[in-house]
Amino acid sequence: MALQLGDVAPDFTSESTEGTIHFYDYLGDGWGVLFSHPKDFTPVCTTELGEVARLKGEFDKRNTKVLGLSVDPIESHRSWVGDIKDATGNELNYPLLADPDRTVADLYGMIHPNANDTLTVRSVFVIGPDKKVKLTITYPASTGRNFQEILRVLDSLQLTSGYSVATPVNWTEGEDVIIVPAISDEDAKEKFPKGFRAVKPYLRYTPQPNR
Ligand code: BEZ
Repeated sequence: MALQLGDVAPDFTSESTEGTIHFYDYLGDGWGVLFSHPKDFTPVCTTELGEVARLKGEFDKRNTKVLGLSVDPIESHRSWVGDIKDATGNELNYPLLADPDRTVADLYGMIHPNANDTLTVRSVFVIGPDKKVKLTITYPASTGRNFQEILRVLDSLQLTSGYSVATPVNWTEGEDVIIVPAISDEDAKEKFPKGFRAVKPYLRYTPQPNR
């Protein structure tokens, strides 16, 4: 059965471009984004890995470790790294896991046999400090991901883990958020001193509480 939201993210040990990674130890008390790509020396993957390198500082700000993965061997990863820098201008600055025996790919259900028997699809797993899966996304090989969206989701996940709020459609950091329906108006007045406006009894907006 595929990993679902709320499941414990499996721990593993894997070779990577930054040496041996013990997953839980590597994540420490922070957040993690584990993402797979289908194959080294392919065009879309090259752009994705370069973009994640460019955004590394944004993930750091969110106390989030990023790790890429494919079933290609470590020697292949090592020789591809130079191409990523040449093609995108960004040096790989996070671990790229080598999973030739598919240990991690199988643990996380990253191979979808009806799409491709042997290669990982473009999976994304966001893992919380409690080591539970907070988000899963799957893209086909033909579509590069939007990593700004992963940052946006991290902002939402980190905010909503600390406050009784949810984030509306297309929300980005700094915009008003929604008070969850389980909170009564009376409690909302106490919990959200900046106030709230009710568009419907169940749709109440309040300024982002942690700013
Ligand atoms: C790519 O990254 O460009 C790619 C990889 C596998 C299949 C199709 C495209």
